[in-house]
Amino acid sequence: MKWLMVSDIESKRSRVIFIEDVEIALFKLSNGEIKAIENKCPHKGGKLSEGIVCDHHVFCPLHDWKIDLKDGQVQDPDEGCVVSLRVEANPESGDLILYMEDEAYKAS
Ligand code: FES
Repeated sequence: MKWLMVSDIESKRSRVIFIEDVEIALFKLSNGEIKAIENKCPHKGGKLSEGIVCDHHVFCPLHDWKIDLKDGQVQDPDEGCVVSLRVEANPESGDLILYMEDEAYKAS
């Protein structure tokens, strides 16, 4: 199995992975940071991985809610929150490690 690496994601693009049965969207910001949130908009379940990334936000492709990729918070005037995951990149290999509820997972 090939582990997902920082270089596998293009800038301002996303990749979808599963951790157990949870669909996760990984985004690469223009500064190279990787952010991870559940791939499900809290409004009506839009696939956030298909949204437009601008700075550190993603706009849901269905009804344009704006979600902060740093903490999963929906921005005003809308309300809600998406599960966000801490992401670390191995400085030597570039492999991505995600933390969900204090469990560490290698992205693949
Ligand atoms: S489903 Fe995301 S804004 Fe409506």
